Amino acid sequence: MIRPPGQPYLSAPQIRRRVRTLAASIHKTYRNRPLTIVALLKGSVFFVVDLLRHLDPDTEVEFWNISSYQGTRSTGKIRGLHHCRGNFVGRDILLIDDILDSGLTLDRTRAHAKKLGARTVQICVLLSKKRKRVHAVKARWVGFSIKDEFVVGYGLDLDQRYRALPSIRTLPKGV
Ligand code: XMP
Repeated sequence: MIRPPGQPYLSAPQIRRRVRTLAASIHKTYRNRPLTIVALLKGSVFFVVDLLRHLDPDTEVEFWNISSYQGTRSTGKIRGLHHCRGNFVGRDILLIDDILDSGLTLDRTRAHAKKLGARTVQICVLLSKKRKRVHAVKARWVGFSIKDEFVVGYGLDLDQRYRALPSIRTLPKGV
């Protein structure tokens, strides 16, 4: 087993407890309304699966595979969005992502979901960085507000590594 990188930040039990309370709030909000969850891959994969364990069994799920990061920096462009589809006409959509940073990813995916005919589009993120957003995006559900540092684990990666860590760790600047 390799030594995990960086410093511990959020433990697996902390994440588990928070995911449960988020799921309870989502469940209450969408009670009696058919919901489609759109999970942004790959970073949200652990988060969405853990949330789904606590949501209605008839919740529909789409996975959109997009990317914008290289190393610890955003390229400023979203790749893969034109392949993203779903039967959204008249439906309530909940976008799920690992982290809200500049706002670019969720701004573009929200616009895409609306273009596909969504009735409403809300956002749920596990993490939200405390920083000035480049794009005006507000998440209705936020697991944890975190300092503006690069984080890995529980689905979040550095060039595809460290996703499998069960907890979240911060990496020192310049990695
Ligand atoms: P934007 O800037 O579009 O960023 O809001 C959101 C997307 O960028 C990735 N991202 C990160 N990935 N650690 C990561 O592993 C981070 O600290 C981080 N910050 C942004 C992530 O893919 C997210 O969907």
